[in-house]
Amino acid sequence: MIDTESNSKCSFICTPGGLASGSIRVPGDKSISHRSIILSSIAEGTSRISGFLQGEDSLNTMRSFQAMGVDITRTDDQIVVKGVGLHGLKQPVSSLDMGNSGTAMRLLLGLLAGQSFDTTLIGDESLSDRPMNRVINPLLAMQAKIDSDTNGTAPLTVHGKSTLTAIDYQLPMASAQVKSCILLAGLYAKGETVVTEPAPTRDHTERMLRGFGCQVETKGAVIKLRGGQTLIATDIEVPADISSAAFFMVAGSISPVGTELILTHVGINPTRTGVIDILKLMGADITITNQRDVGGEPVADILVRSAKLKGIDIPEALVPLAIDEFPVLFIAAACAEGQTILTGAEELRVKESDRIKVMADGLITLGVNAVPTRDGICIQGGSIGGGEVESHGDHRIAMAFSVASICAAGTITINNCTNVNTSFPGFVDLASSTGMKVRII
Ligand code: S3P
Repeated sequence: MIDTESNSKCSFICTPGGLASGSIRVPGDKSISHRSIILSSIAEGTSRISGFLQGEDSLNTMRSFQAMGVDITRTDDQIVVKGVGLHGLKQPVSSLDMGNSGTAMRLLLGLLAGQSFDTTLIGDESLSDRPMNRVINPLLAMQAKIDSDTNGTAPLTVHGKSTLTAIDYQLPMASAQVKSCILLAGLYAKGETVVTEPAPTRDHTERMLRGFGCQVETKGAVIKLRGGQTLIATDIEVPADISSAAFFMVAGSISPVGTELILTHVGINPTRTGVIDILKLMGADITITNQRDVGGEPVADILVRSAKLKGIDIPEALVPLAIDEFPVLFIAAACAEGQTILTGAEELRVKESDRIKVMADGLITLGVNAVPTRDGICIQGGSIGGGEVESHGDHRIAMAFSVASICAAGTITINNCTNVNTSFPGFVDLASSTGMKVRII
């Protein structure tokens, strides 16, 4: 694992000619891990969480609830949360640090808007630059009181003691974070909160709220939740993260002919499987096996056989269902035969980095014909060379370029990779165990 204390800025050196084969289980789902801490903390009773992602992002969420008086204990394979009920959180003595995590900041903002105390949320350089008005505006409409800087960015101070009012809100963009923020605030609001989505986004919040005994109604694009409901503690099993598995879906697909890789216990919630659909359209050989239901979330093993990929026009309807997987999908496109065009993905510009620009810059450095556009990219597949690329501290960019080395003609050095620990602790060791040639300096 990357040592976050001593490697303030580590690099990955990726030698060409590796492959990804065997059978692996990637770490727990980041989105579900955040939600498991949030909901179990405000539930009545003790919840046990297994498979929790022990990455920096979800650990920051855990530490925040500890700072608000929740008794949370952590072992290697289980988190035990003694819930304090809807109104049992206490004012933290200092600001809550969300680190690199947009999910933590946006979801907590919704929850904190309904508390009786003031809280300040801070984040790292990347998070302090990310747009928060998308959650501040609906929360203000619910009568929350929030201070931000003039650009609507962190640090953010949420003032307690406001009585929230339910709203009927049409999301201006497809965002599970905004939807979840409003639903969490809705738990503390008078009346029924209604959110309408422009396109389906991950529905882990709704599913997990139901697991905690809450009534949440979903009818097509409309989600409804009544305020004041009690959450009852429950045990949660977090599946392996499909967003982390995606790196290996691409790695397995671009490996030498005859390579097979199995990814076990992966969450395949239909609001997350766009990456599989896109890779299949590109000619990938991916089989879902052993499908089962684990605590309200569908889970399966995924068999990936190497295949000849072809460029495609990515259907816009799949964009929100694969929103975190584009960095590695761009690598698949660079290895494919022909042109891949992505449109309708402007949200990529406000992730942990501007993923359209940062990926295009890196691909161009590696000799790939990549042209960024306002809302996407055009990539001409073919060969990938070697070179030195910048991840800009974005975990998914760092891991995507590591995968590229399987097809590359020369060594790829990726700078500023420490944040891989936010979502995928142990990435280098696991990648090496499959045959990828990645090491840390
Ligand atoms: C997430 C939602 C997505 C995604 C992020 C996790 C979540 O963000 O990119 O990594 O857990 O709700 P948006 O809601 O901004 O699309």
